[in-house]
Amino acid sequence: MSQMWQPMDDSVTVRAPAKINLGLGVGPLRADGYHPLQTVYQAIGLYDDVTVSSCQEWQVEVRSTSEIDVSSVPLDQSNLAVRAGKLLQAHHGLVESPARIEIAKGIPVAGGLAGGSADAAATLVGLDRLWNLRTSDDDLLSIAAQLGSDVPFALIGGTAHGTGHGEIVEPVPDAGSYWWLLVPHPEGLSTPAVYAEYDASPAPLSVEPVSRMLAALAAGDPVQLAAALWNDLAEPAFRLRPDLRDVVEAVRRTSALGQLLSGSGPTVLALAESADHARELGRHLAEAGYEPTWAAPGPVSGVHLVDYA
Ligand code: C5P
Repeated sequence: MSQMWQPMDDSVTVRAPAKINLGLGVGPLRADGYHPLQTVYQAIGLYDDVTVSSCQEWQVEVRSTSEIDVSSVPLDQSNLAVRAGKLLQAHHGLVESPARIEIAKGIPVAGGLAGGSADAAATLVGLDRLWNLRTSDDDLLSIAAQLGSDVPFALIGGTAHGTGHGEIVEPVPDAGSYWWLLVPHPEGLSTPAVYAEYDASPAPLSVEPVSRMLAALAAGDPVQLAAALWNDLAEPAFRLRPDLRDVVEAVRRTSALGQLLSGSGPTVLALAESADHARELGRHLAEAGYEPTWAAPGPVSGVHLVDYA
């Protein structure tokens, strides 16, 4: 093992977007404990900012940039961002040298928006820069895949087709730009619990909905996109949390182009025609008792450097 790395900067801040699944197809449980996926990811303009700096011990600090409850985010070494830092060092054969990771959260926690994955991806990029490691993109993607199914997508952003258990990502042509209204839920949902509920009635994995989705994206047509949205985890999530069906129905009663549960939930997505339309949907949902809501554009780019000092 070598110990030598030269810090380039005292601190580095990296911005990471939330992800939504425009489509999420799930197949029967594999022997490795994961489910095969056919998914279409989109990165949206709701962000966590992660600032890394060298420190005597691993430290995680989390604060909210809006009305987000961050109390359930682990502050110890079980935080995925710390695991990302350790894995990056192990990849380079470095003796462990800790860092402080400050996370400014704009992505709701346990919301089906891959906020924890975004933080891990941002930490990889931030520490790579802080420690001047110059890790190749391919290596970053493979380290990301070891951290979680959604982490590679957080690195690339945009709109992408995800296969394997979600970790194999390929950008897809997307001619449109869209506005989403996010309806969060105060009570998070556990991803493994929703997959376990799916296992009660698994179905063969089909690629047909992906083709329909890719055609809608290539056309850049939001109405076509609305018709192509799908999520195989929606029914299992509704069985665990019947009140989520009410949220989807509340969105259906607005003039939204389409609605969908985000990933394994509980956040519900409404597809709007424009930023103004998204805000109008937000006002209607507030009258129905659903607030706060957040409007976000998509697609946006993946993890990127915003500041270094
Ligand atoms: O990959 P990640 O660690 O984010 O996944 C969290 C959990 O979600 C897994 O341990 C597994 O229980 C479930 N999962 C799954 N199939 C996938 C992705 C996640 O069963 N394709």
